[in-house]
Amino acid sequence: MRKILLLGSGGRESAFAWKISQSNLCQKLFIAPGNAGTSQYGENVKLNPNHFEEVKSFVLKNAINMVIVGPEEPLVNGIHDFFCADETLAHIPVIGPKMEGAILEGSKDFSKNFMNRHGIPTASSKSFTFESLAAGLDYLDQHSLPVVLKADGLAAGKGVLILEDREAAKSELKAMLDGKFGNAGSTVVIEQFLSGIEVSVFILTDGNHYKILPEAKDYKRIGQGDTGLNTGGMGSVSPVPFASPEFMAKVEDKIIKPTIHGLKAEGIDYTGFIFFGLIKVGEEPMVIEYNCRMGDPETESVIPRIDADLVAMFEACANQQLDSFELKIREQHAATVMMVAGGYPGDYEKGKPISGLENVRDSIVFHAGTLADQGQIKTNGGRVLAVTSLQDTQFDALQRATADAARIYFDGKYFREDIGFDLM
Ligand code: AMP
Ligand code: GLY
Repeated sequence: MRKILLLGSGGRESAFAWKISQSNLCQKLFIAPGNAGTSQYGENVKLNPNHFEEVKSFVLKNAINMVIVGPEEPLVNGIHDFFCADETLAHIPVIGPKMEGAILEGSKDFSKNFMNRHGIPTASSKSFTFESLAAGLDYLDQHSLPVVLKADGLAAGKGVLILEDREAAKSELKAMLDGKFGNAGSTVVIEQFLSGIEVSVFILTDGNHYKILPEAKDYKRIGQGDTGLNTGGMGSVSPVPFASPEFMAKVEDKIIKPTIHGLKAEGIDYTGFIFFGLIKVGEEPMVIEYNCRMGDPETESVIPRIDADLVAMFEACANQQLDSFELKIREQHAATVMMVAGGYPGDYEKGKPISGLENVRDSIVFHAGTLADQGQIKTNGGRVLAVTSLQDTQFDALQRATADAARIYFDGKYFREDIGFDLM
């Protein structure tokens, strides 16, 4: 039996907590820090996942014997390494890679070089630093447009710029190398723009074996019809109709297998999720980015399709026996509609009371930015609730998730009503 500590506080962690709480292998689940929704599935703990000493005391005091890391930051900061290096913690399985693996997400320069070393299809690119600014500007002079500039390090999803104009690209390169994104931009990757449709593919790996989870599509723009500013994600669907068996076979052969092989060849011991942000160019998959964690809001559509015990899967992963784990996937379609605060992704207010949750009929509501305040659930972030419906057809899933989102109210609430409709 496992006493599990799940780190994180978003919709992704709510979906994990919902699924973990259904496992007979879970004796007790703590979520740190969690949100108003995760407390339905376990006990929330006031802990900062980036404060490793605090995490350690909690783990020892509560005899935690499995840790699942939701967000990238603690992984990139080395939480798994911290556990391995401490003799009182070293025996506890951590689901999430060590720093040497998390760098696939933590450094875009590293991940581009990794892909090039292992023949993994990706956009052509070159990296520059402040010292090589002049060469970077020359490179931009020769580059086709649009051009993509990426801050090397973690920049809270804001470090990627797509520029149509050469002069604008040059001044952005200067600004980034001048510290626009702090240290994250001390190296900038200049990359060829790829045109195609995006899909998120996920695996769980124990370093030797892997399981491919259901794929998903994320809708990043704030406005209907994919218009307006980029957000953390306004909704998702799974399965993705254009990710045909033929396409997924290419993804496995040309991307997943060479990635696992590359990690092993470079002596990188990886236990956890890999999120392949892919783009379909013609009929070919190419990698836009790696993440060392699951996607949000993709997880909210992926997890309900998993017809297997998630804790048993983590157990198999920790024991390096993922090959003997049977992962069943439901044929049904999941659609997730994200309800966000008015003003998001710009400035928005928090603390708005949420009502109507009890009126939801055909969906699971995964909380993202919520907080319980004296018995009242209130908004506490830009992305507030993820409303997920699992149905026999994509149309039904979308319609029901949207209808249920309409049954929930908070001041300023907004959601897109067209999630997934482009795929039908
Ligand atoms: P990332 O932070 O790497 O996920 O990039 C954010 C978004 O920028 C991606 O989801 C894509 O929509 C877009 N993007 C990144 N790189 C490229 C590229 N080389 N070509 C086209 N779009 C890109
Ligand atoms: N949905 C994209 C991400 O989690 O980064």
